[in-house]
Amino acid sequence: MNAEPDSSQIEHIINLYKKNEIIKAVEYCINVEKEFPLSIKIKNLLAELHYLQGDYEKAIKIFENLIILDESSDSHFYKLGLAYEKINNASQAFDNYEKAFSLAPEKDIYLDTIFNLLTRININLYSSKLGEVYNKLILKPKIFDIEKLIKNITLLIKSHPNISKIFQGIKNNYNFNLNIEDYQAINSVDILMNTMRLTPIPDLEIELFLTTLRKNLLIKEAYYEVDKDFILEVLISLSYQCFINEYIYNEDDTEKKEVDKLKRNIEESYKEKSEINIYKLILLSCYMPLHVLDWIQDYTPTNKLKDLFKIQVNDYFDELLISKDIKKLKKIKDPLSKEIEDMYKESPYPRWNEILIPPGVTVKKNIENLSLKLDPEDFNYLTNPDILIAGCGTGHQSIQTYSRFKNCKLTAIDLSLTSLSYAKRKSLELGCERIEYLQADILDLDSLDKKFDIVECCGVLHHMSNPETGLKKVKNRLKSEGLMKIALYSKFGWKNIVEAGLHISNLNLSNSNEDIKFFRDYVFKNSKTFSQLLGSNDFYSLSNCRDLLFHVQVHLFTLIEIKELLEKNNLEFLGFEINQALMDAFKKTYPNKEDIYSLSYWNDFELKNKEIFSGMYHFWVKKI
Ligand SMILES: C[S@@+](CC[C@H](N)C(=O)[O-])C[C@H]1O[C@@H](n2cnc3c(N)ncnc32)[C@H](O)[C@@H]1O
Repeated sequence: MNAEPDSSQIEHIINLYKKNEIIKAVEYCINVEKEFPLSIKIKNLLAELHYLQGDYEKAIKIFENLIILDESSDSHFYKLGLAYEKINNASQAFDNYEKAFSLAPEKDIYLDTIFNLLTRININLYSSKLGEVYNKLILKPKIFDIEKLIKNITLLIKSHPNISKIFQGIKNNYNFNLNIEDYQAINSVDILMNTMRLTPIPDLEIELFLTTLRKNLLIKEAYYEVDKDFILEVLISLSYQCFINEYIYNEDDTEKKEVDKLKRNIEESYKEKSEINIYKLILLSCYMPLHVLDWIQDYTPTNKLKDLFKIQVNDYFDELLISKDIKKLKKIKDPLSKEIEDMYKESPYPRWNEILIPPGVTVKKNIENLSLKLDPEDFNYLTNPDILIAGCGTGHQSIQTYSRFKNCKLTAIDLSLTSLSYAKRKSLELGCERIEYLQADILDLDSLDKKFDIVECCGVLHHMSNPETGLKKVKNRLKSEGLMKIALYSKFGWKNIVEAGLHISNLNLSNSNEDIKFFRDYVFKNSKTFSQLLGSNDFYSLSNCRDLLFHVQVHLFTLIEIKELLEKNNLEFLGFEINQALMDAFKKTYPNKEDIYSLSYWNDFELKNKEIFSGMYHFWVKKI
């Protein structure tokens, strides 16, 4: 007897499905299955039809049977995972996706699906499978946004069996002594070692752990004389982390003295032309960037240290050179603009390391993806958009926008030459050739004799003395049919930052590094009062923390104020750029198609959910 149905029977099922006659297709499929009980093809079809019908339990049962029959099919595991996700069984969904991925690691969709699942769930315990998958994801930062995983990553790190005991010890005793086995254990936790090299780790307990680790390495000189590779690896990861978070960790007085001694010791070795101990050198780089050593450019690092030297030495000197080539539109005269220029001079903001590169699509496709209140067809003509980024900072925004709009050309301006140099270096490294960086004040934009198809001004206007004047200046650079993206702080979303600001002014603190560190210490000691602040990623790197809490000028907005501002300036609101989960939640309350374009509805929605815009309002407008 033939084990498989003939092609006409399969075609009939597919045709019913195409005609959306799913119930008939299921009935027919069940009959065919009775005739061919050994057919994998028909079981698979039946499971998929149950899935489409929303009958996930039935689909799961059949996919599980199929896996018993054939354990090597990645697609069965994947589909089983999808069905489990539909019934909110995240752990089974993960296990099955992970199995599909291990059987066919070349299929990108499996890792994509795992990433999306992991951004939606909360991890509470370490498992080696989870650890491995997270490691794979974080090692592809251009594809996967680590920020979306970082909270779970910190939980994974803290519950990792190799180091949870050390964590506990440090939590109970600030002067905890790590022993040589502890360093070995730390080095064995890939997820920790890799994350330290990629992004600031936003967690109070991990910060305590890393500061204790750093102090132990400094005080117990004996360890860096022990020629152990694992100590060097731990030191290198720690050095990355301290550099990336811009040396935000506090040092006590004993440490300060020891660091001075260490620096002098290294300088002497250099002067005496004796060999520099690389353990000591890397240890010093956990306290200050290596470019502060005035002879460091003459030093040849070993292969192991080349990448670390690139970020701590070469990039710094490259940016100094690059800064000489960046043109200036006009001398910056406005007093507040000068103050802001100074604020960013010392530390460019935001300092970023890796970047998610979005796929490049046309303006029309972007309009469709964003569901803007426009007819995408009207933008068929715009195949090479000319874009202005007003207040580009360190280039994160300009590079993402450049990648997102196919065939675009970009002009990016900012007050801060330090930030622009960082932006330009990063753009050159990533091959973004058609971005021109220019030092300019938004207030002087009238002197830029050019109009643009798209203008973006994100996180900038609320730092100007008069945001409306800034808005008018950027609007003047927009072509009549052009599109503009704006991002502003929300009064509700920023409530806890405003409260923190009151503590800062009561404590009479400036925005110097020392005062920022002092305030962080104060927050740690009063963690209950500042629980929301402690949950913010920006609190864990120096320039982000300065920008968040110590800015020289901040205006906050409600959506009603934004509505009025737009109306007064003849601008039409075209929609928010927000994550899907938030949009879905809004649509549940406001289901009509046009509701998403009503700032009044969004205002009502925000009043009931006050933290939804704790980042910023990101939205698009056009001229009326
Ligand atoms: C918070 S950062 C945002 C950077 C970037 N838009 C982003 O989203 O990553 C604000 C930037 O605006 C710049 N800025 C502030 N006022 C400005 C002005 N009047 N003209 C030009 N740039 C300005 C600052 O120098 C700073 O780099």
